Amino acid sequence: MSLLEDGHARRFHYLRLSVTDVCNFRCTYCLPDGYRPEGRKSFLDQAEIARVVRAFAAMGTRKVRLTGGEPSLRRDFTDIIRIVAATPGIEQVAMTTNGYRLRERAAEWREAGLTNLNVSVDSLDARQFHRITGEDKLTEVMAGIDAALAAGFARVKVNAVLLKGLNDHELSTFLDWIKTRPIELRFIELMQTGEMDALFTRHHASGEAIKGQLLAAGWVQQLRAIDAGPAQVFHHPDYLGGIGLIMPYSKDFCAGCNRLRVSSVGKLHLCLFGDDGVALRDLLAADEQQEALMERVHMVLGHKLASHRLHQGNSGTTPHLASLGG
Ligand code: GTP
Ligand code: 5AD
Ligand code: SF4
Repeated sequence: MSLLEDGHARRFHYLRLSVTDVCNFRCTYCLPDGYRPEGRKSFLDQAEIARVVRAFAAMGTRKVRLTGGEPSLRRDFTDIIRIVAATPGIEQVAMTTNGYRLRERAAEWREAGLTNLNVSVDSLDARQFHRITGEDKLTEVMAGIDAALAAGFARVKVNAVLLKGLNDHELSTFLDWIKTRPIELRFIELMQTGEMDALFTRHHASGEAIKGQLLAAGWVQQLRAIDAGPAQVFHHPDYLGGIGLIMPYSKDFCAGCNRLRVSSVGKLHLCLFGDDGVALRDLLAADEQQEALMERVHMVLGHKLASHRLHQGNSGTTPHLASLGG
């Protein structure tokens, strides 16, 4: 089966795989009205995860990022890392976490085959962190990041969603923190997902101001491959760490898109922004379905848009995909 490529010459060697929707934090921008359980969902089990990853690896996927919710809330999370890491063709196993379990688990996950770690830290001020995430856990998360570095993760990425009036004055504190740590700190522009109009209007800030401050202070933008991922990256000779800016409202953002996503219930999504997804789960029941699974993924990929056009005020929604599924 051929490699995954869309009609805009983008290659997809990277899969974001959600393993649960459940989270123990309540970040304002993610769950603005608090957690509303939709009843008990049944998330992909280990055999289904193994089949998804095997099929994507056969189509050229080399990196899998495990996401959530909070992925580490799955009791079998370490086993999931092992399964993904053991899949022929997979070279990198990454996770994105709120850091809650990092201190106790970093070494175990690394031993299981985790290669890359992204941790969310929206503020270095404990009160502000509590206000944004709903949890008073800054100290634990910071200790978790140090534990991860000590466990041998060469470089850790840290995500801070840029929130006007809440953390947009913290650049110098963040810079002090990464001066002596091999951390790539990424400021992410707040994205309008779900029902969060008021929060978006109040707190959305452009990353351009930070870019200006960095360039003025001697930070140099790194040249990167077009498909290297969503961040613009900056370095400074006096800092061990680096800075990334993720600006989905800037014009060329989608040109660098290198990933597809599969949800915790096995739906394939072509874009972070608002497509309904196409069910794959009916093709995950047996190994013999792998060919049919790969055919469906290829068919769906033919519908990926060139750009979500958020920079032109578009909602980003991909046309209705549900009819493509089984
Ligand atoms: P690496 O490049 O592998 O480090 O991963 P990443 O930065 O994509 O992963 P992470 O889970 O840390 O996500 C960081 C931010 O980028 C989050 O706010 C994501 O929602 C956002 N993001 C990730 N993928 C996409 C994408 O395809 N499109 C858009 N618009 N945003 C994305
Ligand atoms: N806007 C920007 N970033 C977001 N994240 C979650 N929701 C949003 C949003 N609405 C970030 C988290 C985490 C990453 C997986 O996505 O902070 O770092
Ligand atoms: Fe959402 Fe991540 Fe915050 Fe959990 S930690 S509420 S998944 S942004």
